[in-house]
Order: sequence, then C-alpha cells, then structure tokens
Amino acid sequence: MSIHTRSKRLTVPQLVAMKGQQKIVSLTAYTSHMARLMDPFVDFVLIGDSTAMVGYGRTSTLDMSLEEIIGHTRAVVASTRLACVIADMPFGSFQESPQQAYRNCAEVLARTGCDALKLEGGLAMAPTVEFLVQRGIPVMAHVGLMPQYVNVMGGFKAQGLNDATAQAIEADARAHLEAGAFSLLLEGVAENLARRISGFSPMPTIGIGASPACDGQVLVTEDLLGLGGPQVPRFVKQYADVGALISQACEQFAAEVRDGRFPEARHCYGV
Ligand code: KIV
Repeated sequence: MSIHTRSKRLTVPQLVAMKGQQKIVSLTAYTSHMARLMDPFVDFVLIGDSTAMVGYGRTSTLDMSLEEIIGHTRAVVASTRLACVIADMPFGSFQESPQQAYRNCAEVLARTGCDALKLEGGLAMAPTVEFLVQRGIPVMAHVGLMPQYVNVMGGFKAQGLNDATAQAIEADARAHLEAGAFSLLLEGVAENLARRISGFSPMPTIGIGASPACDGQVLVTEDLLGLGGPQVPRFVKQYADVGALISQACEQFAAEVRDGRFPEARHCYGV
C-alpha cells in the first residue's frame, strides 16, 4: 500500500514539480465518502464530468451542469485535506468565449475552494487557456479522446492512431503548453504519442488509457471498483468488486427484513 506522508493539501506548483521525480496518482470522485477514502493515496482528486455517466446514469458527459460540478466539488473539497482538487469544466460552460470561460471558472474556484480546473479542447481552446492562466486560473488541458466531442468523434474512440491525427494532437498539446497549462491530460492515445508528448512537455502529463509513458495516471474510480456501468473502457483494470459487495449486503438486508429478523432490539434507537 502506498500512502504519502504530506500533512497539507498538495498545491498546483507542487504537483507540477513532481514531473520526473515521482509518478502522479489521481482518481475521480464526486461524493464526500469516496473523496475521504482516497485522500491519503492520491496526489489529486478529479471531479470529472464523467460523473454524468457513472453518478447519474446518463449516456454522455454533455449534460453535466455547472451547478452539479459546483455541488460535487464542494463535497470533495470538504472531505479531503491532502490531495489537490481539480474540477472539470462542463460542456458549454467555457467554449463560447474566453470571457464566458473566465466567468464560469472563477465561479467554480470561488464557490468550491478547489485548486484548479480541467478543460477539454484542442488548438481552438488555447487562447482561452491563455486568457484564464493570465488571470489566475490554473488550467489542466485535456487532449486526445475528449468525451465532450463525442458527437464529432462518432463515439468514445482512441485518437491519434495515424500520423496526421497524431500530429494534430501533438499540436494541441504544444499550443496548450504555450498558453500556460500546468498539466496535460492525455486520454485514449497510443503509447508512442504519449511518450513523445511527455518527452517534450515540461509540465506533467496525466494519462487515462494512454500508456505508462505518461507522468501520472488517472482512472474513473467506479471503473476500478467494479461499479462502472455498461460502458467500462477496455483498458481499465478492476481492483475490487465493490458492486458485488453492495449487492450482497442489500440482499442480506432484504432477506432479514422479509423474514422478520430485522431490526433486532440492538439496532433500534432508545434501547
Ligand atoms: O470526466 C472524467 O472523469 C475525466 C477522466 C476521463 C479523466 O475527464
């Protein structure tokens, strides 16, 4: 079991300084109990908009609202004291203009107390990233497979599999680094591309389905716990079957209630 020894919340500059020193560990969370349990083990907690799918049972991440991200991020910040906390900016909350992005990012930072924000997007989003960074908003840029572009991509598919598309993703990464992103999240890209980007990037790369060549790894927690829905990606390693445990506990409770074995006196108030 690897548990870190810090006594205070990891800051964004400290996270950046881990590049080349130590692999960065991250998981997603959107509830208080999950965030509290992972806090001693991860360097940053991501409140991903994947919450729309794994938490709300929706079919894509597109209808995650700003209010929902704010609510979940507040729960995570309140329940962690060691991990850096990074929130996803939902679809439609930042793409319109740098000004819209700034207004909504500032609202998330101010109302939640999180440390940084993650934005999906290629080259076209780089001027927005620059606008935000210059105004005090730390940005992690998400490139490669971008679930908010599911309709453009025609599904959740690995990206950059031929020379032309790999070069386009590399150009996206370079543009975000020039714009001042403190980290790059690489989703669903091949190992040689992840290795190339991690090689030239002075900022840490965080991979999901993007090979061990990245400076760190993130997973959607429900997937590694066996709580994912029908769309668990192929690359996910499942570390536990919490879903089976929950089913077992529910089944046992139901049986005891139906048999008149629950509650026993010791499980009642006032006894
Ligand atoms: O929303 C999310 O959970 C993410 C991960 C896929 C990195 O962005």
